Amino acid sequence: MNKLSHRYTTILKTIRSHDYEYYILDDPSISDQQYDELFRELKQIESKHPDWITPESPSQRVGIKPENDFATFRHFQQMLSLANAFNAEDLKNFNDRILKNLGTDKQIDYFCEPKMDGAAVSLIYEKGILTKGVTRGDGTIGEDITSNIRTIRSIPLTLKESESSFPDLLEVRGEVFIRKSDFDALNQRANKNGEKVFANPRNAAAGSLRQLDPAITSGRPLAFFAHGIGLCQGKEFIDLQEIFSVFLSWGLPVNSLNKLAVSVDECLKYFQEIESSRDNIPFEIDGVVFKVNELTFQKQLGQIARSPRWAIAHKFPAEEALTEIENIEFQVGRTGILTPVAKLKTVNVGGVNVSNCTLHNLDELKRLDPRVGDVAVIKRAGDVIPKMVRVIPKKKNRANAVEAPQKCPCCHSPIVLNYQSEWTVIDSSKSKPVKKFASKYEAQKFLETNQSISLNISEEQLDTPFIKCSGGNNCPEIFQGKFTHFVAKKAMDIDGLGQEILFALINKKFIKDFADIYSLKEHRAELEKLERFGEKSVDNLIKSIDKSVSVELYKLVFSLGIEEVGETTARNLANVFGSMEAIQKSSFEDLIAVPDIGPRVAAKISDYFCDDENTASLETLLPCLHIINPDIKTSNKDMKFFGLQIAITGKIAPMSRDEVKNLLMSEGAKVTSSISKKTDYLIAGENAGSKLEKAKTLGVRIVDAVDINTFVDDPKKFI
Ligand code: IVH
Repeated sequence: MNKLSHRYTTILKTIRSHDYEYYILDDPSISDQQYDELFRELKQIESKHPDWITPESPSQRVGIKPENDFATFRHFQQMLSLANAFNAEDLKNFNDRILKNLGTDKQIDYFCEPKMDGAAVSLIYEKGILTKGVTRGDGTIGEDITSNIRTIRSIPLTLKESESSFPDLLEVRGEVFIRKSDFDALNQRANKNGEKVFANPRNAAAGSLRQLDPAITSGRPLAFFAHGIGLCQGKEFIDLQEIFSVFLSWGLPVNSLNKLAVSVDECLKYFQEIESSRDNIPFEIDGVVFKVNELTFQKQLGQIARSPRWAIAHKFPAEEALTEIENIEFQVGRTGILTPVAKLKTVNVGGVNVSNCTLHNLDELKRLDPRVGDVAVIKRAGDVIPKMVRVIPKKKNRANAVEAPQKCPCCHSPIVLNYQSEWTVIDSSKSKPVKKFASKYEAQKFLETNQSISLNISEEQLDTPFIKCSGGNNCPEIFQGKFTHFVAKKAMDIDGLGQEILFALINKKFIKDFADIYSLKEHRAELEKLERFGEKSVDNLIKSIDKSVSVELYKLVFSLGIEEVGETTARNLANVFGSMEAIQKSSFEDLIAVPDIGPRVAAKISDYFCDDENTASLETLLPCLHIINPDIKTSNKDMKFFGLQIAITGKIAPMSRDEVKNLLMSEGAKVTSSISKKTDYLIAGENAGSKLEKAKTLGVRIVDAVDINTFVDDPKKFI
């Protein structure tokens, strides 16, 4: 071999050092373009001097395609799997067993790591040079995927010289994974090109490693973290902490979220911290792993079956699950809007059985393109509502795409499109748009203040159309939905009118309007004759109706089911106007002055009270009720919590959570169930869990539930 030129060896060194800065320090000192430039020069030199090239050159990551299948490889030391813990008690038992086995009652150190949701691999380095990459296989024998492993840019082909000498032979154990953002981009690309869409980042990582052609693997955004060692010849380590710091000095990537804990309580704290920040972690994890830090202790503890006694995985409840789509239906809501809903083969997602999943609107339906027989990936977003994340199309005989119906599936009335509009003020002399508005009202105001002959308004319909049944009260679904909402707990709270009884009374025409509910007792004898209605059930029904006669104004406003008027808006309306009469008489201008009400909502409210059918219905309903009006707050400033966003978590005593919520909302607070940067306060009761952790990390002010009375009296004390 000719003597290597100085420039060539310098470039080799420089590229390796930039790789180290990029993958290990996460702090590159040159741009991607400058890096590419160096790489081009390296390849140019190598094309002139092919005899200089060694397999460790950064240009040699993508090798040739092997002929058949992967060769098998027997691991020098078995690749173990982990036992699982699902709660704090399991973890405490694990710790007790360890202390007992070691014959000590002193706390020992645990090394804590996120449990990566990827594919396990073993990398063999001989005197610092990567010679093999192997899959886990059955733990004893894996597949030789060296040519694919070499394409992963964060895996060094040669270890970086450091103060620590290289072992003669070392099995580095770790996880190959794909970052969430890279995964989304990968799937989007695949979808566009009509290629296979992956169910999740783990499948994509494992599938990419098993490609026979390394050129394909090289195009996949694979990453790597080392999480242990197998056989190590020619070097001694004391503990895991030392191993990982030496790994970093050699340029082997190690997860920066790893941490040493000095007790089992600290392990639990680590679990909570990681769980609460899970959504912000850029890769998928499915729990955390706790390992006895000291290697002599590990040896002493040994293994049982295929799991070490010195390590355990504390798993999160599964968040994503795969299931078959059995049907896609359009459900009619109380406002007439049709929502596409996927009917699924029941699947357990994070401990909850899911068989329905809303697809929200036509845009979402188009984006996901779910079809009967396809497999859907279901996630429980925010831990409550199941969400369809993506669809894996059926390979053969795929069903047709779902079309929006032309007629209401319930009453067969024609479907109308409900566009959201945008109003643009146009300068017609220059045919140029001047400004866009979300409502016609705002656009008109703009015209009034900028009087010019050439200005006019044009309405433009935005993309997302809602489809709506045009049947109104004649559609049984809309009619039943309207009454289900009216009697609900947060509305008029008539618990004797459960769905079955309510629908029966609607069918028998006892209930044709809201007011009919309050004259049911006049039909007592007839009711008792109905199927499933005994004397007692009629008694209960009438009692619960009587109880609901006395109602707070905001509850009544909410129960009317005015489009876009949720609990908070209903409270704001009640607090600002103080009586039903004042709300009915309010003008559009009065309405948009109410906190949280914009022109779109104001328009819905005005429309509701202008409608003849609604006015007639209210005229008969109101005399049946005893409405409790609130004290009118003359200005928003009179509300103690006006403009504040407050979240509640944990067990609150002595008040109930609903009482606290009502109190805060009546003083103008927006009470939310989740924590975000916008949250002003978190009220934390007993057993507050991940929300408390999240609030701490986001710097949200925390109020201990025991101080709730002081807080309600004067929130300023908690700034
Ligand atoms: S340690 C003896 N640490 O989980 C301990 N494993 O069932 C062996 N995994 O297939 C593994 N993240 O690939 C360890 N930080 C981590 C891990 C981790 C993910 C995988 C591993 C193995 C499985 C264990």
